[in-house]
Amino acid sequence: MNYPKTRLRRLRYNKNIRKLFEDININKSDLIQPIFIVEGDNIKKEIKSLKGQYQLSIDNTITFCKELIENGVNSIILFGVSSKKDETGEISCSSESIIPKAIKEIKKTYDDQLLVIADVCNCSYTNHGHCGTIVNDDVDNDLTLRTLSKQSLTLAEAGADVLAPSDMMDGRVESIRATLDASGYEKIPIFSYSVKYASAFYGPFRDAVGSGPKKGDRKTYQMSFKNSKEYLREIEQDLNEGADAIIIKPALAYLDIINVAKTNYNTPIIAYNVSGEYSMIKSSAENGHINEIEVVLETIYAMKRAGANAIITYYALELSKNLKY
Ligand code: PBG
Repeated sequence: MNYPKTRLRRLRYNKNIRKLFEDININKSDLIQPIFIVEGDNIKKEIKSLKGQYQLSIDNTITFCKELIENGVNSIILFGVSSKKDETGEISCSSESIIPKAIKEIKKTYDDQLLVIADVCNCSYTNHGHCGTIVNDDVDNDLTLRTLSKQSLTLAEAGADVLAPSDMMDGRVESIRATLDASGYEKIPIFSYSVKYASAFYGPFRDAVGSGPKKGDRKTYQMSFKNSKEYLREIEQDLNEGADAIIIKPALAYLDIINVAKTNYNTPIIAYNVSGEYSMIKSSAENGHINEIEVVLETIYAMKRAGANAIITYYALELSKNLKY
């Protein structure tokens, strides 16, 4: 409109002037690396649908963590791959279950060099693949809260720094908070997956942990992406129950949600750049259609620009090798 008096390209004229006004940064410390942990020794098995990501036994997890630390990635989120499964996921509540065992080793080796976030859910541990206890063909909310709280306590006892419930049951933050507080773990934060859509982008993850539902889908607990307002109530509910930070998932098709959440709530936001988002970029790059690292950076910058404070991404390690700080 004001052209030729205003020429916006003047501020893009060379790299120094562009840099002067760029205001979004990604730091290594913003990145959280997911790790899939499997029972056994010396296992490093590539996940077919998540090329470059592996199921690792505890010993190899320790080696992988060293590489993360050396590259400045100091946060991890853990997922169990369990061959033992039962009706309710109760198996996850034992201190001998895979993730509590792994946390103990990681903490013993690295102490506060790593922030260990434990995903809390039953789907890796139930024989039907749903996130909770089934009653009359549906996941029973209140019965599931019992296993989630018990699992959370086991994870806290093992040394988890943070708990991240991803099951989408109503009331889980309150229930987990009360359980932790009653046992003296009032300092352990809860990063709640407050906004989690029933998404086809989780496909590769379900391959990775063998957690897909055998029957039905997760639509009675995960949210519909055709609903534009429900997430505001989910966030409010979790914050009221004591969530310390919220996770929004998936990330890329949901940047609008991240942005509105940022504007409306004074709470830290974590974007989960999920498995399908990773493998889309990976496959396309492998076919030579895009420049992988440039596309990854562009998407992670977009998540930060939308309002994410931190990002869970399978690209964390790779990205950290391309970041100075
Ligand atoms: C467990 C869980 C899932 C993911 C994280 N935690 C799968 C699901 O809900 O089906 C997906 C992560 C990803 O796709 O990267 N409930």
